[in-house]
Amino acid sequence: MKIFLDTADVDEIGFAVSAGVIDGVTTNPSLIKQAVEKRGGSIDMEEYIEKILELTPGPVSLEVISVSSEKMVEEARLLYSRFRKHGQVVIKIPVCSSLDGVNNLYDGLRAIRILTSEGIPVNATLVMSPEQAILAAKAGATYVSPFAGRIDDYIRDRIGMKRGKDYQKSDYYDFNLMKKVESKAIDRVLSSKNTSSPREVYLDGEVRDAVSRLNDNGIHSGVDLVRSIVTIFRNYHFKSQVIASSIRNARQVKEMAEIGVDIVTIPFYVLRDMLIHYKTIEGINDFIKDVVEPYRKIFTR
Ligand code: E4P
Repeated sequence: MKIFLDTADVDEIGFAVSAGVIDGVTTNPSLIKQAVEKRGGSIDMEEYIEKILELTPGPVSLEVISVSSEKMVEEARLLYSRFRKHGQVVIKIPVCSSLDGVNNLYDGLRAIRILTSEGIPVNATLVMSPEQAILAAKAGATYVSPFAGRIDDYIRDRIGMKRGKDYQKSDYYDFNLMKKVESKAIDRVLSSKNTSSPREVYLDGEVRDAVSRLNDNGIHSGVDLVRSIVTIFRNYHFKSQVIASSIRNARQVKEMAEIGVDIVTIPFYVLRDMLIHYKTIEGINDFIKDVVEPYRKIFTR
């Protein structure tokens, strides 16, 4: 499994590269905004992107900023030709760039197809369902990025939980526990229904609510989303690589690795969380304390 760093912060990229653990970088306009703000707003953007590319030992995803296929293709060509001599540029295109669910519906897919046919590698971003992932792969995307954490957020929102109050962004969403809760809720509702009339049960609002609340159209968590996409891509030998994105904690990384996803892209704090363990810190303290003089002498010659 490859690990990409999900950041536009050159300091974070520098640290991660020096530890030898990252294979690429993914950025988006929000991450670039954070990096610019951290530097007081004054930044030579072109030089800064060159630096990101020069530091990174693999692909760097840069996102377009328009929603029509014509504009996105134009911006992608510009980014690719301007920066490719500094590193491996990949262009992020939203799988669906519609701002209202009506206009520009197919522009993302069209842009992916055009850029792919020109040999420009595309990372299809903002993928929230296996159905979108299938379309992105069919259009020829080199990478497909399902947003795991945002699906966990969405499911928690649907059951009335508020981020920042009921849960924090980096909290692990317990898929197995919630599946059990869902199955109990369905049983409870069913026990009060006349199950000898399947038609009535099927059409019953309470039943429908119980079966649809703890999942997004059959997807039970971000990890479940990635599992589904990886399974489908394997079934059909799709060439697109899956980047598990919107990763919020170390446990998600482990679960993505168990699924066998090609790549995870993680924020810097998740890298730190993957490394820290209470017993490792306790252990190193003990070992340092226990060094006896004859052993220390070996190192002080
Ligand atoms: C990935 O490429 C995305 O930019 C990113 O993972 C989104 O993460 P977020 O949902 O934590 O903002």
